[in-house]
Amino acid sequence: MRRAGLIVAEVLAVLKENVRAGASTLDLEKIAEEETRKRNARPAFKGYRGYPYCLCTSINNEVVHGMPSKKTLKDGDILSIDFGVQHNGFFGDSAVTVPVGAISDDARRLIEVTAASLDAAIDKCIEGNKLTDVSAAVQKYVEFHGFSVVREFVGHGIGRELHEAPQVPNFGLPGRGIKLKAGMVLAIEPMINMGESAVKVLEDGWTAVTADGSLSAHFEHTVAITHERPYVLSKL
Ligand code: MF3
Ligand code: CO
Repeated sequence: MRRAGLIVAEVLAVLKENVRAGASTLDLEKIAEEETRKRNARPAFKGYRGYPYCLCTSINNEVVHGMPSKKTLKDGDILSIDFGVQHNGFFGDSAVTVPVGAISDDARRLIEVTAASLDAAIDKCIEGNKLTDVSAAVQKYVEFHGFSVVREFVGHGIGRELHEAPQVPNFGLPGRGIKLKAGMVLAIEPMINMGESAVKVLEDGWTAVTADGSLSAHFEHTVAITHERPYVLSKL
């Protein structure tokens, strides 16, 4: 699973270098496809429940599952890129939100808080902790900083399937759910809105957007629980 996670990290790193005003999200999709093939991996999302692309590219008020298109990025946008692969039978899954050119201070703050909420969650991936210790860590951090947690989408177990039990919500009281054990692997993925937490799905059946039109950020890592520190499998 480390090899799958590393491929995801490497491809995301290449994609980040190609995020600029004037580039289209379909340009990024083509790069992702090629970089994945070079590494003898298979894009995990393409064909999953009929999803037609390797990447999910969600811009500004889009929360998750935005689809690559010919539309070009513009200065001041924020772009969430979500990407997964299957390699040697195992899956890796990760997401980042990146600025396009110069963004507002508020947008930068949203990105920072969302990234840090994932770090807070990862810190709870300790043997003996309960699953919702992870969930509660995200909610506490995010709400303290004045943003809101999306509730309709959750993280997940990951391994020989992209989505395995358990679901990993980004909110809730600590101390509930399964006990974390060495060998378990979770894909933790906070989706955080600048305004209210409500989302809606567009007519394309995939793109989730904030109900109030506010900006949204998304970070994800594939994290293994070990006898020692959490092992972030999708980090370079
Ligand atoms: N990271 C998201 C997830 O784990 C991306 C899934 S997109 C899909 O659910 F197309 F595969 F559904
Ligand atoms: Co995921």
